[in-house]
Amino acid sequence: MIEDDDNILERLIGGIKTATNPKSEDQLLERVTELQASEKKVSSLENLDTSLELPSSLRKEQPDSGPSASEGAAGSIAPSTKTGKGEKKQAPVGTMVGLDVGTSRIVGISIDRSSDPKSRRELNAYFTVPYSDFAKQMLEKNRMHFSQLGDELAIYGFDAQTFANMFNGEILRPMQTGLLRPDDERSLPMEKKIIEAVIGRAGTLGEHCCFSIPSPIVGQESNLIFHEQVLKKYLLGMGYKAKGITEGTAVVLSELASSNYTGIGISMGAGMCNVCFSFLSVPIVVFGTDRGGDYIDASVSRVVKEPMNKVRLIKEQELNLGKAPTSNLENALHVYHEELISNLLSTLSTILANASNFPQINEDIPVVISGGTSAPAGFKSKFEKVLKNYRLPVQIGDVRVANDPHMAVAKGALIYATSMR
Ligand SMILES: Nc1ncnc2c1ncn2[C@@H]1O[C@H](COP(=O)(O)OP(=O)(O)OP(=O)(O)O)[C@@H](O)[C@H]1O
Ligand SMILES: [Mg+2]
Repeated sequence: MIEDDDNILERLIGGIKTATNPKSEDQLLERVTELQASEKKVSSLENLDTSLELPSSLRKEQPDSGPSASEGAAGSIAPSTKTGKGEKKQAPVGTMVGLDVGTSRIVGISIDRSSDPKSRRELNAYFTVPYSDFAKQMLEKNRMHFSQLGDELAIYGFDAQTFANMFNGEILRPMQTGLLRPDDERSLPMEKKIIEAVIGRAGTLGEHCCFSIPSPIVGQESNLIFHEQVLKKYLLGMGYKAKGITEGTAVVLSELASSNYTGIGISMGAGMCNVCFSFLSVPIVVFGTDRGGDYIDASVSRVVKEPMNKVRLIKEQELNLGKAPTSNLENALHVYHEELISNLLSTLSTILANASNFPQINEDIPVVISGGTSAPAGFKSKFEKVLKNYRLPVQIGDVRVANDPHMAVAKGALIYATSMR
């Protein structure tokens, strides 16, 4: 049972305590919708900052509240601009938020009618020190993110990394391979704090927030249900009406509007890789693998016998996958990037070969890759090189890395938030 003693919705509707029960959650959502309707405010997306390169349908017109990724008519994920009767509908009230809840980072983008889109990110991590009045005052004075957990002080977000470096220690993470870690009792309260540091509480009750969830990995589906329901409850507690979207689907929404949402959207993160094969906005295949940048760091660290922190720093700051490696460590980084891409493409090839509902497609399928693991220079050519080793049942066209690989999932989630009912 996750305690949330400051839960706005629970206070408002008289103390429903079982928010993770789908039935009472529906009641909460209904209540949010009622409250939202009573606001009688209309917002529009006309003032949306184009610098985020959201699809033009969202910049110029108000989106329909139409089909959603999980429940939409014909399964379409694309936001449309008309209702079934051809009438334009009002955009949702107030601010809308896209939230990428990643193993390594949490990224939020929000928009409202009066200001430019705002984005913020935090490390999804914490670091603990024993409680002392002195330490507490020092953290307060330096305006660091921290919280008292029993007889410890937990510093979270990017501040956790600063502390870990100071104490020569390792940061701790509330998530592992894309999912919350219920085995560590500090994980859940920490996750809540970090999310709140990124997006804050809803300004108006019932503002729409779409958050990323990983795709199911075979055999681990029940962990995903727990993960999604806990996040939803936290967001409801912060005053949002919240819905999950799989990471791969968010990448399709964010990056593949120009190809009518046909293509393969991939997010390669720290704990996982997530993939969505979408045809004319209908997700045909959505899956995840349980390897990402953490797997690269751990594998390289093991073979070259260097600390993972050092490996990660070199990977993030110096690696160029387009150039020949000049050290054992770089060599190992090349090997494990290839291995990760290979693992993803081999899973994709097997899943596509076995997909029963696969449409006849005679056009080239674009691939767009996002996530921090696709950020090193030369990643695209490495991906293309490995791709040549696989025979897929579709003809792959352009391969590209998202303009901002770190923001693509949050952007896709924001687009979806604008079309939430
Ligand atoms: N510039 C960079 N070069 C290489 N790797 C990077 C770079 N920036 C981040 N990474 C790596 O990307 C990974 C984090 O990516 P991302 O933020 O997309 O993951 P996440 O969304 O938090 O995790 P997940 O989606 O797996 O839950 C880490 O392994 C990190 O080391
Ligand atoms: Mg991610």
